[in-house]
Amino acid sequence: AEVIIVKDEAEAGEIYARSVADLIKAKPDAVLGLATGSSPLAAYQALAALVKKESNDVSQVRGFALDEYLGLPLTHPESYHSTIHRTVVEPLGLDPAKVHVPGDVLEGAPLTDGEKVSGAGAAYDQAIAEAGGVDVQILGIGTDGHIGFNEPGSSLASGTRVKTLAERTRIDNARFFNDDVNQVPMHCITQGIGTILKARHLVLLAFGAGKAEAIAETVEGGVSAFCPASALQLHPHATIIVDEAAASRLR
Ligand code: F6R
Repeated sequence: AEVIIVKDEAEAGEIYARSVADLIKAKPDAVLGLATGSSPLAAYQALAALVKKESNDVSQVRGFALDEYLGLPLTHPESYHSTIHRTVVEPLGLDPAKVHVPGDVLEGAPLTDGEKVSGAGAAYDQAIAEAGGVDVQILGIGTDGHIGFNEPGSSLASGTRVKTLAERTRIDNARFFNDDVNQVPMHCITQGIGTILKARHLVLLAFGAGKAEAIAETVEGGVSAFCPASALQLHPHATIIVDEAAASRLR
């Protein structure tokens, strides 16, 4: 992977925004792979500002999110359905019908609805394939090296499927749930590592010292399911954009 060290999230956001705006100009129905969490927020803001400034037509742009909690209604403010609409669809002015989140077909169905849940992953992968695949996938990274919600131990060949969240991730995400880990869902549906690797360009963003160890493992460790993000080493076009703090454990 190519590693770019930037001064802050805004500078990383500019790099992402420039490349995606150029993509949309060349391919008006570009397929964007979307992530939630804190890391991509400045990038989405920069992209929204750039497409407005350059009056790019985004009406045909399509999107597929990485993951979703299970057990939250889609209308919950912290569902990834709500989050993607609030942070990407609305600021960019995308057509909401063209942007998909993996839990959408489950409509907040409980995990106990086994029949509904089991087909959802394969159907999502098929929808991505039918759209012609993802052009640019933006990624954050968990402190445990997860991408999407592929926690350590996930198969590097996995497709979209239902998973259990790691305790570490539920603690990390409690900040979105009144700092109460008990309110963080236990389960999720996530694109697999194999799904993510099919995107034509991966852009992973990481900021802050809390990500330094995961970034070092990703870039300089062996390719291993113990650090799911290390699968980026297998991808022919992966860009890792980090600030000094997140780069601090790189040799
Ligand atoms: C979000 C996702 C997660 C986050 C990761 C980092 O859709 O798939 O892998 O990217 O947990 O989260 P932040 O950016 O909040 O540190």
